Amino acid sequence: MGQETTVQLDLTDIQGNILRSYSMPFARFFFLEVIDPEKSRASLQHVISLVTTAEAWDEKPAYTFNLAFSYAGLVKLGAAAASLALFSSAFRSGMKSRATVLGDNAESDPSKWEAGLAGSNLHIMVGLYSQTAEDRASQSTQLRDHIAQAGGSRIVYEQDGEVQTEGREHFGFEDGISQPAVEGSAAAVYQGDGTPLPDGTWAPVKAGEFVFGYPDEAGSKADPTNSNDLRINGSYCVVRKLGQKVGAFRDFIQQTASQYYWDTSTQTQELIAAKMVGRWRSGAPLPLAAQKDDPALGKDNSRNNNFRFKDDPVGYGCPRGSHIRRCNPRDALDNTATVVRRHRMLRRGIAYGPPLPPGAPEDNVDRGLFFVAMCADIERQFEFVQQQWVNRGDFADLDMAEKDAIIGNNSNNGQYSIPSETGIPKMLFDLPRFVVTRGGEYFFLPGIKALKRIAGTA
Ligand code: HEM
Repeated sequence: MGQETTVQLDLTDIQGNILRSYSMPFARFFFLEVIDPEKSRASLQHVISLVTTAEAWDEKPAYTFNLAFSYAGLVKLGAAAASLALFSSAFRSGMKSRATVLGDNAESDPSKWEAGLAGSNLHIMVGLYSQTAEDRASQSTQLRDHIAQAGGSRIVYEQDGEVQTEGREHFGFEDGISQPAVEGSAAAVYQGDGTPLPDGTWAPVKAGEFVFGYPDEAGSKADPTNSNDLRINGSYCVVRKLGQKVGAFRDFIQQTASQYYWDTSTQTQELIAAKMVGRWRSGAPLPLAAQKDDPALGKDNSRNNNFRFKDDPVGYGCPRGSHIRRCNPRDALDNTATVVRRHRMLRRGIAYGPPLPPGAPEDNVDRGLFFVAMCADIERQFEFVQQQWVNRGDFADLDMAEKDAIIGNNSNNGQYSIPSETGIPKMLFDLPRFVVTRGGEYFFLPGIKALKRIAGTA
């Protein structure tokens, strides 16, 4: 990394899943409605000591716990008006009301969301990660018993997540490779994780982009001495259940191979899939492996994220509209590289649902990505990426109507351009929607001290 680190993060106060990915294969997310605020605060007091912080591990634990609150939850639990006023307007209004910004229309419209994930009663989210399914089951039982006995809240929804074979998401791609390096964090970082510097190195992203109370990329920070500020050492946590239509995705790749490439070989289908994501299924990035897959590169963390886009302005190798180039354009946006680093997020999601076996027809079983992302500014980071980069094309000099081919809110009218230097460039039309929003909410992961204040003990 190309910059000196000066910031000291309070790792004992910051919740653990913000700064590091736990890399545990099993997860369960519990969504609680607060029924009796006083009893609920009392039960929170009992569980604060169980919350996993960002402190270094001598040995990886068997399971972890984290606690997040929606705005409605903080209100219900009686947070002071002066504290509530400091939260951003998107957080206060909640995810459902941001449907237009997020492109949650048609089948992703909040009116179509799963009943349990669509209410304004998602007050508290408990995130449980574990190394084994047995631990997930036993810890879940203890948690459910504790909630029932405490009587302050009730579970309104539970969502399981399981890392799929080789860490791949349901469309078959290696996921969780590129994360922003955070200044002052002890998490492992690799070349390419931060902000590209002109000398070829990478700078970590300022901690304040993700955790309140530290300078961000603009040099501003929330005042850590403000005792009203429940945000200090905390982060917003965007939670979205994203269903994936795996059969439709596979059909589309096959049809594209046949109609546009006149060749339905596996090799051609893999190329089309890679052109849509920007990486081969193995994780090998197109900017470093444009012609053919390189599984060894895909696995090699010291190389698989060390690339830029500027040398390929047209997108011959990695299309400008591909998922990874849209979601993190790195140095691709001329003269605005400083801006890209203000739109990063830490992704902590996990796949849910059983895989669709290779070659099997669509079975309409619910599967997808339980998307979880941390940032300090929902509007500027998550919502901006979703609205401006995922669901529009003009930021990259593409047609306004061209959206992210993987997660864009297309309605059988999407388009996607695959430039080619040596062959015929392709303009694909009539793309369907492969990813559907099934529910979600904006949560906040407070620091431990703020948690104590929310629980009424400090
Ligand atoms: C079901 C939905 C999604 C799928 C299947 C998916 C899949 C992927 C894959 C395969 C990668 C490349 C591997 C990696 O670098 O980790 C990736 C990267 C990424 N995705 Fe997604 N993703 C989904 C939703 C989203 C959403 C909703 C956002 C944010 C609006 C997002 C933001 C990103 C970012 C920021 C990266 C890293 C780009 C980079 O730094 O190179 N993804 N995603």
